[in-house]
Amino acid sequence: MDTIKTALDSNSNEYQENYKASLERREELYQLRSEARQGGSEKARKLHKERGQMTVRERIHALIDPGSPFFEISELAGLHMYDGVPPGGSMVTGVGRVKGRNCMIIANDPTVKGGTLFGITCKKHVRAQTIARRYRLPCITMVQSGGAFLPDVANIFPDIGHGGTIMRNQVLMSAEGTAQIALVHGPSTAGGAYIPALCDEAVIIREQGAMFLGSPELVFAATGEVVGQEELGGAEMHCSVSGVTDHIAEDDAHALAITRNVVENLGSLPKMRWDVAQPAEPLYPMEEIYGIISHDPKLPTDNREILARLLDGSEFHEFKAMYGDTLICGFGRIKGFSIGILMNNGVLFSESASKAAHFIDLCCKRDIPILFSADINGFMVGREAEESGIAKHGAKMITAMASAKVPRISLITGGSYGAGYLAMCGRPFEPDFMFMWPNARAAIMGPDQAATTLSLVQEKIHQREGTTWPDDERETYKGQIRKIYEDFSNAYNFASHIWCDNVIDPLETRDVIAMSLDLAGRVPSEPTTFGVFRQ
Ligand code: COA
Repeated sequence: MDTIKTALDSNSNEYQENYKASLERREELYQLRSEARQGGSEKARKLHKERGQMTVRERIHALIDPGSPFFEISELAGLHMYDGVPPGGSMVTGVGRVKGRNCMIIANDPTVKGGTLFGITCKKHVRAQTIARRYRLPCITMVQSGGAFLPDVANIFPDIGHGGTIMRNQVLMSAEGTAQIALVHGPSTAGGAYIPALCDEAVIIREQGAMFLGSPELVFAATGEVVGQEELGGAEMHCSVSGVTDHIAEDDAHALAITRNVVENLGSLPKMRWDVAQPAEPLYPMEEIYGIISHDPKLPTDNREILARLLDGSEFHEFKAMYGDTLICGFGRIKGFSIGILMNNGVLFSESASKAAHFIDLCCKRDIPILFSADINGFMVGREAEESGIAKHGAKMITAMASAKVPRISLITGGSYGAGYLAMCGRPFEPDFMFMWPNARAAIMGPDQAATTLSLVQEKIHQREGTTWPDDERETYKGQIRKIYEDFSNAYNFASHIWCDNVIDPLETRDVIAMSLDLAGRVPSEPTTFGVFRQ
């Protein structure tokens, strides 16, 4: 391995300006996270506590092994999406260690609209299941939910990816031997009742947990039968009469202790398939990344300086350093895990794209996971580029990236646009995980390009129809398009729609990648079969 040399001047004005902008963005990220972690309204939280129940995050922390991290996923889902609903979409999902085993935890937050499911909550639940299924992580579902948030029915009920998919995934995972465990913490109606019913093992809390397909009110409306919650679906009834649940608990803490016992009996722990070296810190302080990320999206970032602050010992073995140098390729380690890195260093040319295909092939042959670190305006355009076969070489890169069966992690550290976003393993190519830094942006093109393109289209229409388009109207129009694109491309918009798994502080990057690889390395490798490479 070679040590990446640094040429960073931390006294320069540019460094200071970049650092200041990064700190402001970090502040915003932690503010949004704290809103998400608070949960529902003060009134709802107070009521919840008065009922003697733990909050959703207290439950998670009591479940996982003391001192172990909780790797939260889709934390800012639903941000600014529904009135009066904090980021998170009434659910917390993430990976936590229970009795030494990585488990996927999926927990309703009953303080947010009674823990009901919005469209984005379904998407979040399904995303957590997708990760669990890929890595064979037992799912521990903490249920306290009124089922569907009824006004959002169109996004919850009819289609693939909605509530029914949650149930289907439970069945498929159970069949594959991925354990499904539920805790019924509170009243759980309709879909909320099917989730525990479809689990392998279910725990319910006396005089708090209850589950029924129709609530007492609904039963009265439908049949005229008058029945209380406890008789209809309480813990005592389900554990001793219906047999719908398997273990009775006296309170939240007891239910969580029983769940830890259930996890203890899931068989042998999955083994890591790679040799993981002793982790080493980068040679240069990670904090300096704040001063490297360009504060102005129009000015490039020196990504090699970033790489030097992500890798163990800042050590890197570069591949084809003198060829296609707008894409840095090479091997290094992150917290001991060996990883192949493709990192943008300018636009993609034919040479850089074909180098990418070659490098991805190497990673697949060696079963080394890949990090796609994206900061890319796109592929080179123009006559020279077309004559060099850029479409063919780009297709080769996409074929290699899309076929690769080794774990693929995408990280967007700057702007990621157009086919560049896709070729750098954008979300449609289903990377194992996709993370964005707070400054990251992604769209089909940049705001200025979109504004110019659309104003040229309008210009032509005016010419064709013989009408005039005053300059001030054109500028207003362009400003509106720019704003739409700026809002769209924002990392938080991606996080809100679950187009990425999380917005992360650059200083969390090494931890998050290592946690992802710790999951990916505990399932067997799969052979890669590439699609046809156009030569
Ligand atoms: N759809 C939309 N909103 C719902 C809802 C639903 N299914 N269930 C509850 N809410 C809302 C309430 O209107 C209330 O909104 P607010 O905060 O704006 O006032 C909030 O969720 C909390 O409800 P509340 O009844 O005050 O809380 P609770 O903790 O006492 O009870 C439930 C929670 C879920 C047990 C209870 O609200 C309930 O039984 N809801 C109906 C469940 C149902 O029949 N679902 C069928 C789905 S198919």
